[in-house]
Amino acid sequence: MEKTMQPLWSSCNNRRSKTMHVPLLGVALVLLLFLASPPTSCKEEEKTSLLGFLDGLSQNSGLTTSWQNATNCCLWEGIICNVDGAVMDISLTSRGLEGHISPSLGNLTSLLRLNLTGNSLSGGLPLELLLSSSIAVLDVSFNKLNGEFHELQSTRDSMMKVINISSNLFTGNFPSTTIGSMKNLAALNMSNNCFTGEIPSTLCVDKPYFVVLDLSYNQFHGRIPTELGNCSGLRVLRAGKNQLIGTLPAELFNVTSLEHLSFPKNHLQGTLEHVGKLRNLVILDLGWNGLNGKIPDSIGQLKKLEELHLDNNNMSGELPSALRNCSNLTTIILKDNNFQGELKRVNFSTLSNLRFLDCRSNKFTSTIPASLYSCSNLIALRLSFNNLHGQFSLGISNLRSLRFLALSHNNFTNITNALQILGKSRTLALLLIGGNFKHETMPDYDTFYGFENLMCLAINECSLYGHLPNWLAKLKNLRGLLLDNNKLSGPIPTWIDRLNLLFYLDISNNNLTGDMPTALMEMPTLQSAHSDPIVLKFPIYLTPFLQYRTTSGFPKMLNLGNNKLTGMIPPQIGQLQALLTLNLSFNNLHGEIPQSIGNLTNLQVLDLSYNDLTGAIPSSLEMLHFLSKFNISSNDLEGSVPTGDQFSTFPDSSFHLSGGL
Ligand SMILES: *[C@@H]1O[C@H](CO)[C@@H](O)[C@H](O)[C@H]1NC(C)=O
Ligand SMILES: *[C@@H]1O[C@H](CO)[C@@H](O)[C@H](O)[C@H]1NC(C)=O
Ligand SMILES: *[C@@H]1O[C@H](CO)[C@@H](O)[C@H](O)[C@H]1NC(C)=O
Ligand SMILES: *[C@@H]1O[C@H](CO)[C@@H](O)[C@H](O)[C@H]1NC(C)=O
Ligand SMILES: *[C@@H]1O[C@H](CO)[C@@H](O)[C@H](O)[C@H]1NC(C)=O
Ligand SMILES: *[C@@H]1O[C@H](CO)[C@@H](O)[C@H](O)[C@H]1NC(C)=O
Ligand SMILES: *[C@@H]1O[C@H](CO)[C@@H](O)[C@H](O)[C@H]1NC(C)=O
Ligand SMILES: *[C@@H]1O[C@H](CO)[C@@H](O)[C@H](O)[C@H]1NC(C)=O
Ligand SMILES: *[C@@H]1O[C@H](CO)[C@@H](O)[C@H](O)[C@H]1NC(C)=O
Ligand SMILES: *[C@@H]1O[C@H](CO)[C@@H](O)[C@H](O)[C@H]1NC(C)=O
Ligand SMILES: *[C@@H]1O[C@H](CO)[C@@H](O)[C@H](O)[C@H]1NC(C)=O
Ligand SMILES: *[C@@H]1O[C@H](CO)[C@@H](O)[C@H](O)[C@H]1NC(C)=O
Repeated sequence: MEKTMQPLWSSCNNRRSKTMHVPLLGVALVLLLFLASPPTSCKEEEKTSLLGFLDGLSQNSGLTTSWQNATNCCLWEGIICNVDGAVMDISLTSRGLEGHISPSLGNLTSLLRLNLTGNSLSGGLPLELLLSSSIAVLDVSFNKLNGEFHELQSTRDSMMKVINISSNLFTGNFPSTTIGSMKNLAALNMSNNCFTGEIPSTLCVDKPYFVVLDLSYNQFHGRIPTELGNCSGLRVLRAGKNQLIGTLPAELFNVTSLEHLSFPKNHLQGTLEHVGKLRNLVILDLGWNGLNGKIPDSIGQLKKLEELHLDNNNMSGELPSALRNCSNLTTIILKDNNFQGELKRVNFSTLSNLRFLDCRSNKFTSTIPASLYSCSNLIALRLSFNNLHGQFSLGISNLRSLRFLALSHNNFTNITNALQILGKSRTLALLLIGGNFKHETMPDYDTFYGFENLMCLAINECSLYGHLPNWLAKLKNLRGLLLDNNKLSGPIPTWIDRLNLLFYLDISNNNLTGDMPTALMEMPTLQSAHSDPIVLKFPIYLTPFLQYRTTSGFPKMLNLGNNKLTGMIPPQIGQLQALLTLNLSFNNLHGEIPQSIGNLTNLQVLDLSYNDLTGAIPSSLEMLHFLSKFNISSNDLEGSVPTGDQFSTFPDSSFHLSGGL
């Protein structure tokens, strides 16, 4: 026998024999017991079935090393036999297997569990496996299996308890007959395939043990069958991201065993008036539908509720004060509805587990509820685009876990006060407070200390007066700075290159004067196209704030447009090789466009329009292969326009030159 052969059991034995040097009687005894009863040898016909499976693989990732005809198949990798030497369990997960699943596995009459998740297996799922009278757990999720799922009229009793065929490429209708004959079925996971048709009404008929149904990410359409109300033991029902219409049937609210009810991203309508009956609910996710009406008072009866997602519906009315009774809530997502009334009516102080609260884009009024400040586990708070007002309260500093705070586009006042209070936070990473503090003055202090971990700051669209404040220079972690659409005046400060992680700078639409400082050309993150993308991630926003997890929505950008900048474009601009967007439009820049601009080979957007630039259009512009928006119009440029591939696609207006042509 070759030494490289390391079946599962014997390698286990090897490890044990190494630890034998430790004189532990117990270990020795266990080892003796092992040696005394070697595993029963596997049956020849079972070995043949397994080798048939191996044969079906086009890529077995080294399985042959252990799966050798001459050896006991009970010792093969991934195989577990029962005491009689019959194969009971096959577990070959995430092993890079390719090829098809051989029907020969259906001949393993004692096989209980087959787990092939996370490979690249293709072809169909053999009906022999579905017809098997022994298999109880079948997991072939995360493969490339395709075709329609077999509709079978089985004559034999099925032992099937768990079927997971999720994340494959299956098509066709729901296999009602096949599933219907599986009386022991407890969990069916068909998520993330291409199934179509309606959800069958017979789903739960004769299935006393049925607890988990996952149909999400398919193309199911039609209504949710009222008969689901007969699924009396169902705990998990997920069918998000389908094409379902109609209402949540009243009968569904009889299924009081439900713990997880999830139908986001369908076309459902109606109200939630019966929701209070589902006393065991832990997760309720009905976001991105067409629901209307209020959140009923009965929500307060859902004492186990942890997650409430009702975002992107047409719901309205005030939040029920009974919400305070749902003290296990960690997540409340109500964004993009028409909820109204005083937010401070809700007493949040009982929701001490709250971690995510998102009420963006509603019509809430009042000040920020003071009761919210006792939710010390709050990680993300978003109240943007409402009608809230008032000054920020010191209470915010009690939110010691807060990393994401978005309060933009309300009617908050006193920016000085806001920055003094928020600056003390050691946890804040994203602060978005633009669209408030109208016509106030940006405070500046040389001694300001705070915002230690701030990565992104947006105080845009406030019409703030004042200068680019010096305290910004101390925000060493800043990646994104949005101060656009204010009335800030004075020069761009020379300390700008001290913000050595900054890669998104928008100070457009202000009243800034002076030259473009060369410090701007020294910004490290804009110089290096090869900076590690991991560094640029905001790693902290778990679901449901997923959209802020990466900065992919934030290209490396310098937007100085619509100010009163003068002087020349420094030739060192060519150093900012990582830039994707450069906007210097609507300023008073003069002189020539430096040739080095052709070094910005990653540029996708270049706007130099509405300045006083003169001279020839640099031929080096042809080097900018990724440009998709380009405007140098309304200058005094002359000469021929570049002729590179993408330039022929830009409209003539991109080049309107007041002088030449
Ligand atoms: C395995 O070995 C048996 C007996 O040695 C032999 O009959 C059989 O053909 C072999 N099977 C394969 C697939 O090589
Ligand atoms: C199952 O076993 C029978 C009897 O040994 C054999 O005739 C048949 O070809 C096997 N089926 C598969 C798919 O290997
Ligand atoms: C299959 O194996 C994977 C990986 O070990 C595991 O996460 C999954 O729960 C298993 N499937 C079933 C149905 O037990
Ligand atoms: C497949 O789904 C089943 C039932 O929902 C679950 O137990 C199993 O863990 C899932 N497998 C994977 C790999 O997620
Ligand atoms: C279904 O399987 C997927 C894996 O494809 C898993 O992420 C999901 O949690 C499973 N659903 C349930 C309800 O277990
Ligand atoms: C649902 O259950 C009721 C009462 O047990 C029964 O009368 C009805 O036929 C069932 N409906 C279906 C579709 O199974
Ligand atoms: C189920 O719900 C329907 C509609 O709400 C109701 O008429 C019926 O009495 C309920 N059945 C049970 C068993 O609760
Ligand atoms: C709330 O959650 C905790 C921790 O998960 C759990 O122990 C407790 O039973 C839950 N409360 C209710 C009413 O379900
Ligand atoms: C915002 O608040 C100010 C003063 O608090 C008030 O005068 C103004 O009308 C409010 N604006 C809006 C749009 O509510
Ligand atoms: C704004 O806040 C500062 C600092 O808290 C305070 O001194 C000042 O009086 C406030 N201004 C107004 C108008 O309330
Ligand atoms: C812009 O700044 C200049 C002084 O630099 C000032 O005279 C002018 O009023 C400012 N314009 C606006 C709109 O704030
Ligand atoms: C930058 O551009 C200038 C002028 O076009 C050129 O001489 C120089 O080689 C370029 N540098 C790099 C690194 O491409």
